[in-house]
Amino acid sequence: MGTLKIRRFNPEDPGKAGWASFEVPCLPTDRLLNLLTYVKGYLDGTLTFRRSCAHGVCGSDAMVINGVNRLACKVLMRDMLHKNTTVTIAPLRGLPVEKDLVVDMEPFFSAYRQIKPFLMTSGQEPTRERIQSQADRARYDDTTKCIPCACCTESCPVYWADGSYFGPDAIVNAHRFIFDSRDEGAGERMDILNGIDGVWRCRTTFNCTIACPRGIKVTQAITEVKRALLFNRKAVVR
Ligand code: FES
Repeated sequence: MGTLKIRRFNPEDPGKAGWASFEVPCLPTDRLLNLLTYVKGYLDGTLTFRRSCAHGVCGSDAMVINGVNRLACKVLMRDMLHKNTTVTIAPLRGLPVEKDLVVDMEPFFSAYRQIKPFLMTSGQEPTRERIQSQADRARYDDTTKCIPCACCTESCPVYWADGSYFGPDAIVNAHRFIFDSRDEGAGERMDILNGIDGVWRCRTTFNCTIACPRGIKVTQAITEVKRALLFNRKAVVR
């Protein structure tokens, strides 16, 4: 058996916000998402959390698990219970809580949209695929792995202090296109990230890199955008 200690909040009864504990049967190979589903199915149907793919792809079940931002579907109980039989689970910090473990993602996706996370090109539509060398593709391979789950941005103390900072996720997704040899929007994105709420707010605390469930070198990506702004803007602006 294990205990899930879950932060509860019901907007219709905010005075009762607090922690609730649930005893759950579990095996070392169980994923935490399965146990949350067990609680909802058998112990308390009002427990609210997001999930979809259950395989670490959609990014919808990010939450604070034993103090660290993680995806519940990627957490195995054997990695959580080796020191303690209780796992604490809370909603992501830095975003308004809507109910229990569900937060309002709109401020996060607003920043994501502002850096224009799509290929920007000019001229006629090509009649065949846009050719890219393997070396050019490798330049931004790491940041293509992002599944905007918010684990990185919501682990950033600069973002907690002032939600106006674009945050690591938006910069990672800008990096993915800034260093794409086929894209022509690098100058526009770099101007956005050179502003008061852009990359210079980063204090390299590395929380984002630790939190990323995809293993993206988030702090390195932010540093590469900073270096491009300082030293080689001409090389990436096409
Ligand atoms: S449910 Fe899709 S990433 Fe966890």
